[in-house]
Amino acid sequence: MAQDTLTIVDNRTNRTCSLPIESGAVRASDFRQIKTAPEDFGLMTYDPAFMNTASCRSSVTFIDGERGILEYRGYPIEVLAEHCTFLEVAYLLLFGELPNETELKNWVHEITHHTMLHENTKKFMEGFRHDAHPMAMLVSTVAALATVYPEARNIHDPGIRLLQIKRLIGKMPSIAAMSYRHSLGFPYVYPDNDLTYPANFMNMLWKMVEPKYAANPVLARALDILFILHADHEQNCSTNAMRSVGSSHADPYLATAAAAAALSGPLHGGANEEVLKMLDEIGSRENVPSYVKKVRDGHGKLMGFGHRVYKNYDPRAKIIKWTAEQVFEVTGRNSKLDIAMELERIALEDEYFIQRKLYPNVDFYSGIIYQAMGFKPEMFTVLFAIPRTVGWLAQWQEMLLDGEQKIARPRQIYTGHRGRQFMPIDRRTPLAVTKA
Ligand SMILES: CC(C)(COP(=O)(O)OP(=O)(O)OC[C@H]1O[C@@H](n2cnc3c(N)ncnc32)[C@H](O)[C@@H]1OP(=O)(O)O)[C@@H](O)C(=O)NCCC(=O)NCCS
Repeated sequence: MAQDTLTIVDNRTNRTCSLPIESGAVRASDFRQIKTAPEDFGLMTYDPAFMNTASCRSSVTFIDGERGILEYRGYPIEVLAEHCTFLEVAYLLLFGELPNETELKNWVHEITHHTMLHENTKKFMEGFRHDAHPMAMLVSTVAALATVYPEARNIHDPGIRLLQIKRLIGKMPSIAAMSYRHSLGFPYVYPDNDLTYPANFMNMLWKMVEPKYAANPVLARALDILFILHADHEQNCSTNAMRSVGSSHADPYLATAAAAAALSGPLHGGANEEVLKMLDEIGSRENVPSYVKKVRDGHGKLMGFGHRVYKNYDPRAKIIKWTAEQVFEVTGRNSKLDIAMELERIALEDEYFIQRKLYPNVDFYSGIIYQAMGFKPEMFTVLFAIPRTVGWLAQWQEMLLDGEQKIARPRQIYTGHRGRQFMPIDRRTPLAVTKA
């Protein structure tokens, strides 16, 4: 009869050992019993970049990368994007169930009443250079919130945890909007509690002298859908940073700042900014084939293509393409869309991309929509960080409540020297280092 075990023969010792298989995984720590001698440390698993290592059990988000499926708490992303608001999805991600009408009303009310920033935080932001990158401002300001809410350090109190969760979700758009206005030299706009979450964000971004900002409902809904699509994506680089930093019991503002810092890189949330730069570099549809050839020949990557998990069309990219059409009916067509669509067509027929299962990811079209809506490329990752904060917090809380989790601390395979003889300074050989 088949058994849920893995039998390993250690050819160094000819010993056999059986390890239990649970949920399609073996525990890496079980390998430690495989030793050549009693004092041997035992076998480790080596997995740079966590290519095949599950670091947690999670019930937040399910992805089937081969089939292009994404579900939050068991609900397909397509259904949530069609029927829900972002704050409704935030509730689902954090509490595991969709809210009923009263729960949603209360939840929206509470988030809305946490959108205001302390005046000190505003002053703190005023200190940034005029040309500071909005994402760097966001990361620093989120970390600075830890100075405003010192009680947040009490992460074991469920009530205090929930309060910080509400504060972070409420304040993220305010910080994002202030960093945007700061880079333009415009005065900051305070939140308007009469507006929905996306409409209020648009108000804080774009209100000028009009007494009341009226958001275009199509654009506000498009932004809300984009927020839903970006709300969580299981154990990606930034979520792993959130869990890892949170595992040391750092407060949620500092852990969120760390996650946002991870998101800022061009291989993660920074990719959509890079997509626009790439489309600018390509310039026109006619130049697409030569650009694809260049990438195929090993010169650079096609930004917005490829994914660690999806080896199929990213389901979020499909919804974004649909959303783009709605947005362009309001804003007019962004000429970059034609280049992007041609790029997608040619790449998807190209053997290099077919073989490697490289498909457009969420970032491929999102930048084009954001630009059509009036955002500068530097803001794109900030727009990603707002909704992803919900996912980070859901995963952070899940990690804290998981009895199996401890402070994250990987092992290493040491490749350096051992036991070297100390040299006094006058006898050391200079290193051939180039000056920075
Ligand atoms: C997302 C990404 C980091 C995933 O990386 P990964 O899982 O480590 O995949 P790898 O880098 O091992 O890629 C596998 C192969 O595909 C190639 N590849 C991956 N993404 C590519 C891209 N966008 N353009 C061209 N080639 C790409 C790699 O060069 C590698 O080729 P090789 O086997 O000949 O060496 C990677 O696809 C990438 O850099 N994409 C562009 C940035 C981006 O859009 N990021 C947003 C992610 S949502």
